[in-house]
Amino acid sequence: MSATRSRLIHIVGARPNFMKAAPVVAAAQALGSDPVLVHTGQHYDRQLSEVFFEQLGLPEPDINLGVGSGSHATQTAALLTALEATMLDLQPKAVVVYGDVNSTLAAVLVASKLLIPLAHVEAGLRSFDRTMPEEVNRVVTDALADLLLITSPEAADHLAAEGVAAERIRAVGNPMIDTLLRFRDRLDSTPIRTQHNIGDRFGVVTLHRPANVDHPDRARAIVDAMAVVAAELPLVIPLHPRGRAVLGAAGLFDHPGLLVIDPLGYTDFMSLVADSSLVLTDSGGIQEETSILGVPCLTVRPNTERPITVTMGTNRLVEPEDIAVAAHDALARAWVPAEIPLWDGHAGVRIAEILAERYGA
Ligand code: UD1
Repeated sequence: MSATRSRLIHIVGARPNFMKAAPVVAAAQALGSDPVLVHTGQHYDRQLSEVFFEQLGLPEPDINLGVGSGSHATQTAALLTALEATMLDLQPKAVVVYGDVNSTLAAVLVASKLLIPLAHVEAGLRSFDRTMPEEVNRVVTDALADLLLITSPEAADHLAAEGVAAERIRAVGNPMIDTLLRFRDRLDSTPIRTQHNIGDRFGVVTLHRPANVDHPDRARAIVDAMAVVAAELPLVIPLHPRGRAVLGAAGLFDHPGLLVIDPLGYTDFMSLVADSSLVLTDSGGIQEETSILGVPCLTVRPNTERPITVTMGTNRLVEPEDIAVAAHDALARAWVPAEIPLWDGHAGVRIAEILAERYGA
């Protein structure tokens, strides 16, 4: 592709990026701009990538860099090399990055060194836990981005505490919730439940954080607790490939109430979540989606970068030893959807307007 000096490039790479970028890219196109979509290829399995493009109506990426998996250093180095060549070739007016994955971090480093203006969607979230690779990515990204688009009010305080000038920060709402609200009325779990023989009452589990799925003792404690919950409520587990070996060795496939299935596309997954009685997860985005859906969520982590889901939503942080009692308590209560400022389905439009105003693309 030739130089695109008047265009913005949006960079995505891993599953959680796609539902955030979709409403922004669509709104930018509706405003008459012509965004370039670059997929780094960090995620490459059809069920972690392509299926999201199809379901969310994201345009086919203009470029797929195909960097694939590796250790943090290997993957980030491949991302840096590929993204530098791409940005030198495209000469974009500005770069837009999403979330906190390694593709985000690499894009920010490259754009900064090439003096290309950079906007970060979902800026300012902090778990204050530097053992999480995503926290390192968030801190570096926000230090270098010149436009910080925040989804949640406390992000402004975090950025101010890190010395970010107020004029670099704009509150835009949550584009991932735009995607959820766009699909909410069409979510129907019947087909996927029929396919997997899942009854009316069930919970959904997702686990993929290194802190949970790379450590055999912790993985076993979580699986044992899930087996206790499953005696009361069958659990469906669309399993991220990262956790298969260690969770499998911890007994994940050995309990009748634990139904392990392959990763699901966006609509099947959100349909199951919306119709479930309980979610157990270590994901970031699912804490937000369950809050808006009014589904109780137990987050198996010692902290969260999304505390608003605890104070205003349905989320509760748990350790493995808390899971069984917390699940029992959650099932005994009635839950209502949270209403969070600017999580209203219009974040993508706000972001596209700010990008057009700032970069004139
Ligand atoms: C990444 C993000 C994480 C995000 C998650 C969502 C980073 C540091 N982490 O974690 O924040 O919550 O995506 O899924 O960017 N794999 C496949 N197929 C794929 C991609 C990965 O089998 O299409 C397997 C490979 O064994 C790979 C492992 O998953 O080594 C980890 O993939 P990677 O992209 O490094 O991190 P995630 O754990 O997916």
